[in-house]
Amino acid sequence: MGERGSDFYDNDAVFQTYMERRQGQDNANDTLEKPVMLELIGDAAGKNILDLGCGDAGFAAELLGKQHKGLSYTGIEGSTNMVQAARKSVQGLNARIEQSYLEEWTYPADTYDLAISRLAIHYVKDVDHLFRSVYGALKTNGSFIFSVEHPVITSTLQPSGIRTNWIVDQYFVEGFREQEWLGGSVKKMHRSIESYYTALQQAGFRVEQLRESAPQRAFFTDEETYLRRQRIPLFLFLSARKLK
Ligand SMILES: C[S@@+](CC[C@H](N)C(=O)[O-])C[C@H]1O[C@@H](n2cnc3c(N)ncnc32)[C@H](O)[C@@H]1O
Repeated sequence: MGERGSDFYDNDAVFQTYMERRQGQDNANDTLEKPVMLELIGDAAGKNILDLGCGDAGFAAELLGKQHKGLSYTGIEGSTNMVQAARKSVQGLNARIEQSYLEEWTYPADTYDLAISRLAIHYVKDVDHLFRSVYGALKTNGSFIFSVEHPVITSTLQPSGIRTNWIVDQYFVEGFREQEWLGGSVKKMHRSIESYYTALQQAGFRVEQLRESAPQRAFFTDEETYLRRQRIPLFLFLSARKLK
């Protein structure tokens, strides 16, 4: 297993399984995660956007397609498989993809209006450092909006699959926890909600919104999946602003 979270996605079998699931009907990303991200982002027209761990950059194509007025996009991504897919997604758009680990990229100062990250930051060990880098890269009044796997999920030690119960344990013991997922072995960083919140404040941000992935019926085609998603929150979202 590689050193950084994105190396996991360079296992070709994992990558393929991930992409299949990511596009499956009523997948958690589209039913639970994306609607909240879109709500928090609001109007992105005219913004210079930085996307941390952009994956295949399908979101860039969507944002630039919908709200293309003056919008520019930079995606940072560590996995070669993802970078290849991302460069295809953004062909012809006002977007660029840079291959780098989030921990190692040189963040330019005062450049972006909006930094986003969808389900990538729970792979990063040192969020204090990352959040300070993002803070520095934002313009005054810029915002940082991200989703992560919810801490009640990163704290369960059960194998993945359709679960019937969850054992939240060692909640306040932060650190990498290894799990079998998508046919591979991956380390995701567990930290508490309080810890994400405080790390943002310590980096200088004013935290503006905290959301969880409460399911909204309209986004599901299948009633059973909707009911199942009421059991436990899968994702946590935070929205923060750089005031000066
Ligand atoms: C679950 S995927 C989400 C992809 C995309 N944001 C989306 O929502 O479709 C997580 C992504 O973060 C990337 N990633 C994880 N850790 C990373 C790191 N340390 N540096 C750069 N990219 C990373 C992975 O390669 C993967 O593409």
